[in-house]
Parts: sequence; C-alpha cells; structure tokens
Amino acid sequence: MSGTALVLGATGTTGSAVVDAFRRFPDLSVRTATRQPTPPTTHDHRRFDWADPATWRDALHGADRMYLVAPIGSAEPMAMVAPFLEQAAAAGVRRVVALSSSAVAFGDPGLGEVAAAVRETFAEWEVLRPSWFMQNFTGAHPVAESVRATGEFITATGAGRLAFIDGRDIGRVAAHVLAAPGAQCGEHLLTGPEALTYDEAAAIMAEVTGRTVRHRPVDPERFADFLVASGYDAEFAAVLAALDALVRDGAQAAVTDTVERLTGTPPRSFATYLRALPPA
Ligand SMILES: NC(=O)c1ccc[n+]([C@@H]2O[C@H](COP(=O)([O-])OP(=O)(O)OC[C@H]3O[C@@H](n4cnc5c(N)ncnc54)[C@H](OP(=O)(O)O)[C@@H]3O)[C@@H](O)[C@H]2O)c1
Repeated sequence: MSGTALVLGATGTTGSAVVDAFRRFPDLSVRTATRQPTPPTTHDHRRFDWADPATWRDALHGADRMYLVAPIGSAEPMAMVAPFLEQAAAAGVRRVVALSSSAVAFGDPGLGEVAAAVRETFAEWEVLRPSWFMQNFTGAHPVAESVRATGEFITATGAGRLAFIDGRDIGRVAAHVLAAPGAQCGEHLLTGPEALTYDEAAAIMAEVTGRTVRHRPVDPERFADFLVASGYDAEFAAVLAALDALVRDGAQAAVTDTVERLTGTPPRSFATYLRALPPA
C-alpha cells in the first residue's frame, strides 16, 4: 500500500497520535498541516488555516487520504468545511476519516453536519465517534487546569458514567482505517475499557499521582457559568453543559470493543494512561 495521508490538526491531541501511529505503516507518506508554518515533526508539513482558504490547495496537493479535525470550537464549521471538502475531492482525496464525538449523530448541528458531508462527498469514509478524552484531565482543558490550580474540578455529570479514552487509541484507530486496503464506510463508537464516574476518575488520579484530586458535582447552569468564566463563549458553554446533563442521565455510559476490533490492541485504562505520563 502506498499513498499520502494528510493529517489536519497534527499538533493536537488526536492528530499528533495519528502521526505517531503511522509509524506502523511506513509505506504511507505522512503530511502534517496546522497554522504553524514550521514543521512539528520530521514529516512533510504545510501551513494550513481553516480561516485562510489560500492555504488549502498546497496542503491537499498529492494527498489521497485525510484525517479531518474540523475547525475547533466553531458552532457552524460547515461554512469552512463544505468548500474545503469539495476542493479535497477535486484534488484527488479518496478516503476521509473524520473526528466527531460519541455524543454527536449524523446530521446533528456542527460535527454531525461535517460527518454527513464527508459521507456524501467521498466514496471511502469513516467517522470516529470517541467518548471523552483522558487528556481532558492532564492537557489544556478546564478540568485539567482546575485540578492543577486547586486539586478540585466541577462538572454537571453527577454520578453519570463515561468510558474515557486515550487520544492515542483514537490515533491508532485513525491510522489503521486510513491505511487499510479497503474502507468500511461506517461510524465507529470508540471508548476506553471501563465506564467511570468523575468521582471514580478523580480517585484513580489521586491514587496514581499522589496529589489531591476531587470532583465536585454542580448543576448545569453553574457549570455553564464556570465555563464562561474560563473563556468559553456562552453558546458553546451551554452546549457543553447540556452534554454533561446527558452524561448525568446515563446516555454516555456505553463501553465498546471497537478499538481492539479495529487495531488488534485493547484501549488503555485510565490508570495505565496516568502511569505512563512523564513526571509533573
Ligand atoms: N476533548 C474531548 O473529550 C472530546 C471528545 C470527543 C470529541 N472531541 C472533539 O475533538 C476535537 C478536537 O480534537 P483534538 O483534541 O485532537 O484537537 P486539539 O488538541 O484541540 O488540537 C487542535 C489542532 O487543530 C489545529 N488548529 C487549530 N486551529 C486551526 C485552524 N484555524 N486551522 C487549522 N488548524 C487549526 C491546532 O494546531 P495549530 O494551533 O498549530 O493550528 C491543533 O493541531 C473537537 O472537535 C472536539 O469536539 C473532543
């Protein structure tokens, strides 16, 4: 198998994991694309900015497959994504693997519309629908920032369960389905190996790191206020608070075997993920 895989969002949680996972597929060339003009890796790199269509052509040139991370935090990504997908198909991209979310179905506003457009535009497509990322506890995310600052974080999930997933497991799945000889043309619900409440996740994190980590449940309105105070716009904060209410009501508690089925290796547990982090 040969070809060139364009990885958008290649410095992000999942994009960087896709790039890493392509080491298993050395016959494929990897091209990274972000707003940074300088390469984050030794791969071929192009500056790509959703907001600057003049950068799209160069990123797409010669690519036959693509990992798609839609514009982040945009309530209406289709304004940029629709013309980009048309340009990608015309440039010769045949297969697209799009990052969506376990909480988003085909046609839902935002990422659901992106998924539907990918399905309509490309003969070969996959939509990845991961659960919440383990990196939310450790990276650039309000939960992680709050834990680092105070040892405590809030959510509106109550005792609802989530099967948190390591972004690297999402990256492994994406690389496998981009490199596979044929496409499945399907959506893939990706989870970690166990569904945890935030109280349980906090207890695991406290045990592994030896630091104080506490979860404090609040109601969705209080949670939305907190997100706005953390810099989120009010509309997006309301969407995230509504997602927490879904979790609280048990809608996101499913555990799937998809990561192992598609890659041959089971997903990491939260404790394993935390133990593998470099010391703080
Ligand atoms: N966190 C969760 O629990 C969770 C769960 C399910 C789904 N999701 C979805 O996952 C997605 C985020 O993926 P991620 O965590 O892998 O991304 P991420 O870590 O937020 O990284 C974003 C990437 O996109 C690039 N980027 C940002 N703005 C850009 C622009 N204007 N043009 C081109 N590239 C740009 C960034 O690089 P530069 O800054 O260098 O451009 C970076 O490489 C969101 O759609 C979210 O809804 C998240």
